[in-house]
Amino acid sequence: MVKIAPSLLAADYLHLSDDLEIVNTYADLFHMDVMDGVFVPNISIGFPIVEAVAGAAVKPLDVHLMIVNPQNYALRFAAIKGVVMVSFHLEACPDPVELLEKLRQANVKAGLAINPDRNVEELFPYLEHCDFVLLMSVFAGFGGQKFIEGTYDRIRTLKKEISKRCLNVEIEVDGGVSPMNSKELTDSGADILVAGTSVFKSGHPAEVIASMR
Ligand code: DX5
Ligand code: ZN
Repeated sequence: MVKIAPSLLAADYLHLSDDLEIVNTYADLFHMDVMDGVFVPNISIGFPIVEAVAGAAVKPLDVHLMIVNPQNYALRFAAIKGVVMVSFHLEACPDPVELLEKLRQANVKAGLAINPDRNVEELFPYLEHCDFVLLMSVFAGFGGQKFIEGTYDRIRTLKKEISKRCLNVEIEVDGGVSPMNSKELTDSGADILVAGTSVFKSGHPAEVIASMR
């Protein structure tokens, strides 16, 4: 069963509790995008917002770190009650095994993320150390971008490798996800769909989430 993780990057921060209610009622996870203005050319949220959302969340939190030196902050996010998944980018941490294992020891699911211009094969050496991988289907940094069609093949390649090695690694897809592509994504092997704009800017978030399911 696919999990739907609305990205709060597209939420209305003046009325955040309305958007929290939508996720709590209709979705499976809160996807929280943390950007530092260095790894990506954008700055988003940090500890105060993640902690506030965690305090009001019934559903668990999935923290996506788009920051350099993720080893300096990942465990602090993992320690927030309600956070169950933490991912960071291979591009920001070329030697990710130690941090992945530290996240597991901190009792969260450890995830490795990659941008669309990296070969999925680059994830293969680390799959034993991952509980999930996050495939970006746009370039990390901004919401509202156009979905990259090559993502389906990337998911299939990764799924095949995970199955071949009998691993228990979920595939999360992030960027430009909507009811237009959700079926093909899950048919290709995606387990978790992240969607920001299509959910929160639609005017009918509950229907969008239901339709992606
Ligand atoms: C982009 C973020 C995404 C983003 C997705 O860097 O990682 O989670 O919020 O937003 P949409 O669904 O608008 O592409
Ligand atoms: Zn994200």
